[in-house]
Amino acid sequence: MPPPVVADVIVIGSGVAGLSLALRLADRARVTVLAKGIVSEGSSLYAQGGVAAVVNQAEDSFEAHFDDTLQAGAGLCHADTVEQVVRRGPEVITWLQHLGVPFTTDHGRYAENGSAELHLTREGGHSHRRVVHADDATGRAIETALVRRARAHPGITLLEHQLAIDLITAAKLGLAGVNRCLGLYVLDKRSGEVAPLAARHVVLATGGASKVYLYTSNPDTSTGDGIAMAWRAGCRVGNMEFMQFHPTCLYHPRAKSFLISEAVRGEGGRLLLPDGEPFMQAYDPRGELASRDIVARAIDYEMKRRGLDHVNLDISQQPADFIKTHFPTIYRRCLELGYDMTREPIPVVPAAHYTCGGVVTDLRGRTDLDRLYAIGECAFTGLHGANRLASNSLLECLVFAEAAAEDIAGRLTPDGSAAPALPGWDESRVTDADEHVVVSHNWDELRRFMWDYVGIVRTTKRLERAQRRVEMLSEEIHEYYRNFRVTNDLIELRNLVLVAELIIRSALWRKESRGLHYTRDYPEPDPRYANRDTVLIPPLFATAAEFANA
Ligand code: FAD
Ligand code: SIN
Repeated sequence: MPPPVVADVIVIGSGVAGLSLALRLADRARVTVLAKGIVSEGSSLYAQGGVAAVVNQAEDSFEAHFDDTLQAGAGLCHADTVEQVVRRGPEVITWLQHLGVPFTTDHGRYAENGSAELHLTREGGHSHRRVVHADDATGRAIETALVRRARAHPGITLLEHQLAIDLITAAKLGLAGVNRCLGLYVLDKRSGEVAPLAARHVVLATGGASKVYLYTSNPDTSTGDGIAMAWRAGCRVGNMEFMQFHPTCLYHPRAKSFLISEAVRGEGGRLLLPDGEPFMQAYDPRGELASRDIVARAIDYEMKRRGLDHVNLDISQQPADFIKTHFPTIYRRCLELGYDMTREPIPVVPAAHYTCGGVVTDLRGRTDLDRLYAIGECAFTGLHGANRLASNSLLECLVFAEAAAEDIAGRLTPDGSAAPALPGWDESRVTDADEHVVVSHNWDELRRFMWDYVGIVRTTKRLERAQRRVEMLSEEIHEYYRNFRVTNDLIELRNLVLVAELIIRSALWRKESRGLHYTRDYPEPDPRYANRDTVLIPPLFATAAEFANA
């Protein structure tokens, strides 16, 4: 007997992308959502600034949002993707409001229908105020509403502490016909058991890979699992060299990954050297509101040339009440750590923040593998180009969740074929690991050399050095993986090492500087790379032509 299909759709990931897709589909399909930790944990929960959307069409326009996205993207944005995402902005905001997300409203301003108008904040690279937010904890407000709705929906099953290891494909099982995704292997982190799960459609919504760097604004979930799984299943991966560094994370030994929202600069925050001297104007006429790549590089440059541990961010010229009302979360956290931002500057440093590249998809979220979708930060849709515009990520999650849900809904009719039997996980040749230090040591080593050699400013020599290191780590981890029972840390490290390899290969290929990829050996953009994505073909296929014919 073939195993029952446990779900029409399995969504791997319960952030804004995964839960939005589940909710969009749940009246039409049985949806199972997996989370590797508790359901709300992921980057979405920590998003601060907001969601970019043209909700005020009197003062802003789709064209302006489109142009700002393209300008930040430095020549690599796909115009059709940008068009789709920007135009869907107002609708997805309305959808979230219907779900009960308490966006901040503009006191005293009302729309024609009598409802309060949304307050719009401003962030780097945006020519208008267009960032819809819930104070400075927008992600928490959205994620909380989505989790509440998903828990209450009878069509959705939420499974926590379930770590997806790898996708199961028809090709891997040696089945004839079109290769397609049949399900996945999942580690139950509480029991340590691995089981196959079958589904008609699988959606990767696993978030980004910023944990590949030593310093990051991201939570521990961002280990690039979806990107690595898709690659191993034969999907193309694009633009991995474009890792975004957020200019301002709090610099404090007790503040792990705490972001100071770009909205602080949007509302007047100035970047200062320790002697109080502003410096951003020397790098860009937009000063503090230049796009993120420019601001992060300027801070990195000033820190390195002056031997500084951090620079300062100062918004204390604004009235204390304004700061406390606009940034209650940031204000409280800074105060806990000894900084009163209403009176003094706070110390900040750049940190890895966002993965612009990912699994290549089309406008419906379809990947190269039939019945496998990728949405949210793990996907490469062409929206961000060489640099993501602030607050365009949550927007992309929401828009692509809807697009993929509609596409899946149109393909739900059972085709009459029985689900093939999925083999159990083979543990016959492995034992319990005896040397946990191998995994923890390699985690640290990887993240440190990625920070030092593949960070904000690169050189070919450093990239080659990193490539040699990553090849060695990769061999070691593969041997470990073959011989020992899988654990959470081993699976994540295996994925991070692979993602690091993809980042380095992509960075070495692009012999120019563009957007987030800056190399001293080729410090200018090169027209030969304009409009050229860095698309890597998975090793299942020897050449691009072979891939195209598969
Ligand atoms: P995530 O929210 O990261 O969720 C990933 C999910 O996948 C989690 O549920 C995790 O458990 C699950 N998962 C991962 N791997 C596995 C696996 N192997 N098996 C099972 N489950 C797995 N963007 C904006 O647009 N505006 C902002 O203001 C903003 N602020 C930000 C502030 C911070 C501090 C950070 C870190 C990011 C911010 N971003 C912002 C970026 C944005 O939050 C993320 O890009 C977005 O939330 C990603 O959503 P997601 O659903 O793709 O992934
Ligand atoms: C922030 O609030 O600065 C983060 C915004 C983003 O990453 O889009």
